[in-house]
Parts: sequence; structure tokens; C-alpha cells
Amino acid sequence: MLNVKSISKSYGKTKIINNITFSVNKGEIIGLVGENGAGKSTLLQILATLLKPDEGQVELEQFSYQRNQKKVRKHIGFVPQDIVIWENFTVEENMLFFEKLSWKKKSNDELRQLCLEMNLDKWNEPVKTLSGGMKRKLNLAISLIHDPTLLLLDEPTVGIDLKSRKEIGAYLRKQANESEKMIIYISHDMDEITSLCDRVLCIGNDPFYKKILEKTNKELLSFQ
Ligand SMILES: Nc1ncnc2c1ncn2[C@@H]1O[C@H](COP(=O)(O)OP(=O)(O)O)[C@@H](O)[C@H]1O
Ligand SMILES: [Mg+2]
Repeated sequence: MLNVKSISKSYGKTKIINNITFSVNKGEIIGLVGENGAGKSTLLQILATLLKPDEGQVELEQFSYQRNQKKVRKHIGFVPQDIVIWENFTVEENMLFFEKLSWKKKSNDELRQLCLEMNLDKWNEPVKTLSGGMKRKLNLAISLIHDPTLLLLDEPTVGIDLKSRKEIGAYLRKQANESEKMIIYISHDMDEITSLCDRVLCIGNDPFYKKILEKTNKELLSFQ
């Protein structure tokens, strides 16, 4: 379980995150929505241990982010808004490179299987020749090498083809159901959010998101 308790964060004098409290259970996918600049990426970076909140606490299972940062980090997979992979390396070389950095070891076969589960089959192709959707899948596969329990995704499907979006969505649902991962997922695509997520966290006061979500049976957690 992930427990987020009364966290706040300011940049200079501007408060971006104001007293947010929520928790995520194993196997749940949480959609994170809000207008541009609302603070979605800031919140995700706090949950990834890359930024510290000014106030409040976060806990993953029994581990406090403040006291056990190293342990917590072992169980987090993070896909930032911008793709981070080696363009001149093949898919295989990228997977092997990041496996070397990972605390959990995987065989070549296991790494390949991770890619194939998302229909990423271009194992020997240089990454620069792949489509945007394929690159996103590779970035996601890299974030899963160490079997994280908490997976944080910052707009993983922006600007990619519909087929890849659907494949990524189906894969995430499978990961949540079968491996009991907790997934927090930022997207502007409300169709994707309403079909994929169990609950939705909305930051900011844009009524647009509330209106759409009222028509669905999704639980909405709203923070200003
Ligand atoms: N490192 C930073 N220093 C100062 N302001 C920042 C920094 N990062 C983000 N911001 C500002 O904080 C606000 C929230 O940013 P962000 O979390 O990226 O929003 P979102 O992901 O919802 O678009 C924006 O106004 C942004 O310009
Ligand atoms: Mg952002």
C-alpha cells in the first residue's frame, strides 16, 4: 500500500501541492489528471523520491520515504514525461544496459519476454528507427526490469498511435491484476483514464475533469 499524508510543496512562494492525502492499494490503477501546470509531474516526482515535499509524509508498505529512501527506491518504477533511452543502441542493448544498473538481475530471455509482452518485437533494431509508440514501450519495459511494486507513469501515451496506446493500457491492467502492482498514471486522454483507471485523482480546480467523471462511476479524489 502507498500512503500519502498531507503533503505540500511550493516552488518559491507559489504553492503547487496543497495538503494532498490519499492511498493506493495493491492492484489499483490511479489516474492523475489536471490542467497544464496544476502540479501532476511535481506530485509524481515526489512519489518517485526525486523531490521532497515541504510538509507531510509518504510511506510505501511499512517504509517511510524520509527514513528508508534506499529501500523505497528499490520498489519504484518511474517513467518520466520525456523518453530516456539510447537512440543509437538496439532494443536489446538498451535492455542490457539498464539491467546492469538494476539491483535485480534478469536473463537475456527474461528481458526479451518483458518486451514481447507489450508487442515490442524489434529486439535487434536500433532505437532511432522505432516509432514513438515502440520507444514508449521500451521506456516502460526498462522501468519494469527490477519488478517494482509501485509504477509511476508521466503521460506514457502522449503522441503515440492508438494501437500502441491500447497495448500499453492492456499491459498495465494485466500488471495491476496479476502482479498486484500499484500504478499511478498521468494522462490528458479522458477516454483512456475512464476505461483504464479504478480511481481518479484530480489536481486543480478545472471543472472540465469533474464534469466528465460525473458521467462515469469512477471515484474522484479532488485537490485544489
Ligand atoms: N523546478 C521548478 N521550479 C519552479 N517552478 C516549477 C518547477 N517545476 C515546475 N514548476 C512550476 O510548477 C507548476 C506545476 O508544474 P508541473 O508539476 O510540471 O505541472 P503539470 O505536470 O501538471 O503540468 C508549473 O507552474 C511549473 O511551471
Ligand atoms: Mg507534467
